[in-house]
Amino acid sequence: MSGDLSPIDTAKFVAARRAVDFVEDGMRVGLGTGSTAAWMVKCLGERVREEGLKIAGVPTSSRTAELARQVGIDVVSLDEARWLDLTIDGTDEYDSELALIKGGGGALLQEKIVATASDRMIVIADPSKRVETLGAFPLPIEVIPFGWQTSKALVEEMLESMDVLGQSATLRMNGEAPYVTDEGNHILDLHLRRIGNPRQLSLVLNQVPGVVENGLFIDICDMVVTGHGDGRVEVVDIEEGTLAEEQIDIAGAENLFADI
Ligand code: A5P
Repeated sequence: MSGDLSPIDTAKFVAARRAVDFVEDGMRVGLGTGSTAAWMVKCLGERVREEGLKIAGVPTSSRTAELARQVGIDVVSLDEARWLDLTIDGTDEYDSELALIKGGGGALLQEKIVATASDRMIVIADPSKRVETLGAFPLPIEVIPFGWQTSKALVEEMLESMDVLGQSATLRMNGEAPYVTDEGNHILDLHLRRIGNPRQLSLVLNQVPGVVENGLFIDICDMVVTGHGDGRVEVVDIEEGTLAEEQIDIAGAENLFADI
């Protein structure tokens, strides 16, 4: 039946299924956003229903909150949970130091707050997310609607002095209207092509008036679980300095997939 899943969905599923093994009874768990994270929420829901796993889930977007409730996870706010044991989320890019670009799904602000409030962050990915240097994926930044065009101009001017190859920013759209985040803000996508110094760029971007947060996650992610279309996963633990390869049982994936 796994033949019903495309290689990319199999990769996302096995990464998610392996990552939820790290969730233990009683944990407060940050729930990421995006198509890979949706697999994770489904897999976690399966453990809640079948094993009686007791966890409190803190979603990073309204759509993840809705999915988590659907699959039977107890949903609490970050203010109720205060501090989390673990966050599991997807990514748009990751490099060898486990620096990330996130926000392709527009939820970077809640994702960054929740991941930062966690003892550990595990990223789940397919092989297309691994890069030598961050920046091919446009870097999302969240800006407040007031004066967003001025913020955009300030960001573009600032980028001229940064170690990047491109300097243009585009307002993310949702059809004819600007995209609006869960916090009522807009997203600018920065077309940088290559980010030579992600740490410096992240610090400088957040100094621009109107910029709420950027999608660079530096020193936040502890582990990346990368799934493959043949059911293999690679688990990279940056703290332990280890790389493990495993084969994941893909039975039941199509049932979870049908509900996503
Ligand atoms: C959501 O804002 C993003 O950070 C996503 O986690 C990221 O874009 C990965 O999404 P996919 O798993 O859908 O590629």
